[in-house]
Amino acid sequence: MNSSGDRFSSKIGFVLAAAGSAVGIGNLVGFPVAATKNGGGAFLLLYLFFVVAICLPLMLAELALGRATRSNPLGAYTQASGGSVVWRAAGALSLITPFMIAVFYTVITVWLLGYLAIVLGGGLASLADPAYFGEFINGASVFLFLALVIGLVVLVLKAGVQDGIERASRTLMPVLFVMLLGLAAFVLTLPNALQGLKFYLTPDFSRLNLQVVNGALSQAFFSLSLGMGILVTYGSYMRERENLQTSASWVAGTDTAVALTAGLMTIPAIFAIYPDTNPQTLSDSTVGLIFSFFPKIFMALVPTTGYLLASALAFVFFSLAFIAAITSLVSIIEVPVSALKNETRSNRPTSVLLVVGAVASGAVLCALSFGQTAALTEFVQYGGQTKSLFDLLVDVFYETILPLNGLLICLLVVWRWKRANLTQQLQIGSQPTQSQESTSPPGPGSNSFLARYTHHALAWWIPAILGLVFTLTVYNKFLAA
Ligand code: TRP
Repeated sequence: MNSSGDRFSSKIGFVLAAAGSAVGIGNLVGFPVAATKNGGGAFLLLYLFFVVAICLPLMLAELALGRATRSNPLGAYTQASGGSVVWRAAGALSLITPFMIAVFYTVITVWLLGYLAIVLGGGLASLADPAYFGEFINGASVFLFLALVIGLVVLVLKAGVQDGIERASRTLMPVLFVMLLGLAAFVLTLPNALQGLKFYLTPDFSRLNLQVVNGALSQAFFSLSLGMGILVTYGSYMRERENLQTSASWVAGTDTAVALTAGLMTIPAIFAIYPDTNPQTLSDSTVGLIFSFFPKIFMALVPTTGYLLASALAFVFFSLAFIAAITSLVSIIEVPVSALKNETRSNRPTSVLLVVGAVASGAVLCALSFGQTAALTEFVQYGGQTKSLFDLLVDVFYETILPLNGLLICLLVVWRWKRANLTQQLQIGSQPTQSQESTSPPGPGSNSFLARYTHHALAWWIPAILGLVFTLTVYNKFLAA
């Protein structure tokens, strides 16, 4: 059980922390590019549909489980299943998953900090060199930036839920919103920017096929921090009287709003510089776009804006991406921290140091897997390809296990945990209270459309769809050559 010290102080504190977790580099670049390639407005509609119809009920399930058990995923799965060994194993999986994701996401966060520092030092021109990224990730400076990122994470997590995670999100998320709006406003004044908007927003339903549908669902699912144990953990930090339906809707809405707004920056920027871009030729790799493509875009602005302003814009862009990444990183490392702290009754500083130490060691191995160490670079072979340790972690834990964790959560919450427990959690905060803790107006109760829909969807079609996504991913990634 969590000590009462581990609590978000208010609804807005929780919403910003959970939104900080959900908003990542995928929102800024991955989502807009996927939309532009896959039917523009048609993809956006599909995405919104999945956010509401699939992700919101799952988010409610995770938060409810966390708050009712006041526990990390391992403790929550154990309690909710009455101590079953099988569900304990599922709980363990939902701890290993965030740990492994943290390992590779640390490496990406480190690169972002590195690029930020280089731009600040006047090095934008060198970043635009196509060979630069490969040299940078294999250079010694990566380890310096790794030490800085690790130091920052320790600082935030040691300070605790309210004074660390919540405070960092309360400061950084507004900065992120302002920077994003500012950058979008600037980009939209560039010639040809509107060309980009056309591709981003105009619906082209003919592009929708099974793969695009799957892509939109996965994007929504990954973006909202589902299946990572984060929302179970954050649910355990929510106040007793908070209405889950209102809070979850705010988190989903904020994440989606950031993703949609990012498209007003990312896509017009691409088309302002390369008006003849064929959207289909844009890379599917968010990492490739951020580290190789965007520096070129900022360099191409130099004749119009001068080097200084182009560097300033690049600085804002990489700051945005870094803030998005570090708040996600903190949230995902908190999951094993919380588990270690609860399960072994250690104090927070010890748990933070042990977990972050382990994540850092994994991150070092990942950082060496881009050519520096052959055994890690050519780590395994599957699906007819040789993969590095980094690729393996992304493929296995991010792309494959997450939907499985989502499926397991549905099964646990609906079929093992009593339905009444979920109803009770959804009901909380729907009546006006005298309690001084709750100053917010009452939210929807267990009879709301959302609550009733959540029960049905979690029992039947969400697990069916996640099961299908999981099976297809295993087949496509690991079996088909
Ligand atoms: N939206 C994130 C992204 O775009 C994905 C994500 C959600 C994530 N929660 C996370 C990544 C926690 C790492 C840790 O990158």
